[in-house]
Amino acid sequence: MSDRIHTLSGYFHEYQKSVTQPEEFWARIADSFHWKKRWDKILEWDFEGPNVKWFQNAKLNITENILERHLFTIGDRPAIIWEPNDPEEEGRTLTYSDLYREVCKFSNVLIEQGVKKGDKVIIYMPMVPEAAIAMLGCARVGAVHSVVFAGFSSNALSDRIDDCGAKLIITSDGNFRGNKTIPVKAVVDEAVARTSTVESVIVYQRTKQEVVMKEGLDHWWHELMDGKAETHLAEEMDAEDMLFILYTSGSTGQPKGVVHTCGGYMVYTKYSFENVFQYSPGDVYWCTADIGWITGHSYIVYGPLLAGATSIMFEGVPTYPHPGRFWEIVDKYKVNQFYTAPTAIRALQAFGTEPIAPYSLESLKVLGSVGEPINEEAWHWYHTHIGKTRCPIVDTWWQTETGGIMVSPLAGITPTKPAYATLPLPGIHLAIMDTEGKELSGNSVEGNLCVKFPWPGMLRTTYGDHDRCKQTYFAAYKGMYFTGDGVKRDHDGYYRILGRVDDVINVSGHRMGTAEVENAINEHPLVIESAVVGYPHEVKGQGIYAYVICDMKNRTEANLIGEIKDTVTKIIGPIAKPDKIQIVPGLPKTRSGKIMRRILRKIADGSMDSLGDTSTLLDPDVVDKIIEGKV
Ligand code: PRX
Repeated sequence: MSDRIHTLSGYFHEYQKSVTQPEEFWARIADSFHWKKRWDKILEWDFEGPNVKWFQNAKLNITENILERHLFTIGDRPAIIWEPNDPEEEGRTLTYSDLYREVCKFSNVLIEQGVKKGDKVIIYMPMVPEAAIAMLGCARVGAVHSVVFAGFSSNALSDRIDDCGAKLIITSDGNFRGNKTIPVKAVVDEAVARTSTVESVIVYQRTKQEVVMKEGLDHWWHELMDGKAETHLAEEMDAEDMLFILYTSGSTGQPKGVVHTCGGYMVYTKYSFENVFQYSPGDVYWCTADIGWITGHSYIVYGPLLAGATSIMFEGVPTYPHPGRFWEIVDKYKVNQFYTAPTAIRALQAFGTEPIAPYSLESLKVLGSVGEPINEEAWHWYHTHIGKTRCPIVDTWWQTETGGIMVSPLAGITPTKPAYATLPLPGIHLAIMDTEGKELSGNSVEGNLCVKFPWPGMLRTTYGDHDRCKQTYFAAYKGMYFTGDGVKRDHDGYYRILGRVDDVINVSGHRMGTAEVENAINEHPLVIESAVVGYPHEVKGQGIYAYVICDMKNRTEANLIGEIKDTVTKIIGPIAKPDKIQIVPGLPKTRSGKIMRRILRKIADGSMDSLGDTSTLLDPDVVDKIIEGKV
């Protein structure tokens, strides 16, 4: 059963109900799921604690709502279609029945490995169906998965293993990406050696490259799966039991583990998926994200599979072996809904329209965008050349913390405007706040984006540190969840996201904390101090610009810059490598020693004439020297 809205007046009607009677509204949506026991109370909450509980005392297992629920009705429908990196290699299709069997077998593997309800399991894998099977297997036995993007370094991985106390790691031998074969297991080996909680590692064989298998610790996926029973009774979970932890960057140096729970996340991801993408039974849907990010969790795995959709999973990159690869895949599988990031659109835009020409793209009905503001030029290109002006674009604003899409058009229903995420989904009660803590009512206002009322998909805590959750999201504005984004509500009441107002930068749709990158740079023994800011980047949206004070010893600048980039790659991963590094004699600081990032941001984006008053700085001359040496 679907709770799909079909008309604009239907949307306004539902929205109204969802804010005046939120509990009745969500109870109605939740009633279409399979619960082992229904809730006693829909919602208990305060944003002071914060303390948010949806569907109190309800019991469920999210995988029963994906597997058992669909087994006898759409068991033969493809659940996951996997397209490998190399188009010459055979793809794979797993129907809902296949998925049921694989997840049950893997659940039995987990039990055999001693994994129990509440245990933490890290998944560090390429984009293969087994990554989704691993997630669902964990959910089925009640273990808490934490997927770590397989591009993160062994340092970043071991930090996450330590933070959640992971007992098991699921990984692969290697990863095919474009024309590269990337070692994966070797990274896990380094990380495990530095930590003390991991009892076993399960290795899926993908590339068949050589790996070291430690007796008693490492096990091959295929060997463990061999002969396992094809049924497994799902663990009974409380609606508020943890489903997963996903680490994300913030304005401090250490990434935080965002916690999502079983019941609310289930209800919200399915509801938002069906409504935003206007999914109809039988549609083929493709989200190009990686499962290492929240988009992959909510809109490759959980949302689409809860809705009984066919979800495409692509192992490769948009430009391999040619820049028409995305469009080739759209035609090959007759994709109806296509969901990607502005950075990918801009990267493909740079190749012109020739790579698109051989493909009809006629199956497409809806195009989606996520992860960063989409600029008008990319929006029009996407609309004209991919959607052939026929497909509505859903510009979906949300966050790791929100669990699902919060502000977005409903495809084909909400009139769109380029670069606008448009209107909130039903159940999402937004507020725009000024810096003094006053809510800005009415239209044509600009300020900080907050949410006033809980929604089922929201984070519950940051793992192991509830106070951090409170300070980061619930302290800036009393009684509100603060998103960290600036926003404008225009004369039509439409929302346009303006970007982060904190020290978080958005590189190719991935969140990076400036402090996190600075910490990594500072690990280089010759670095004395650094300051990192974002600057506008044609393809990535924002690039990373690092100002670094160094002891040059007898290095050349070029050598040192190369070494610093390598250090960041080693500490975090290639995604955090600065695009530009400028060696500077000093940093602009206030008399109290605070770095004036505002000035550094202006220099990085070339706005030298609007630096403002620099005379109060500790050393005003340093600004001229930085401008002189700008890279
Ligand atoms: O700044 C917003 C930006 O991405 C941030 C969330 O990043 P993350 O938790 O990694 O999740 C990304 C995928 C949901 C937000 O605070 N952002 C995300 N979507 C949009 C966006 N900015 C503008 N428009 C969007 N559609």
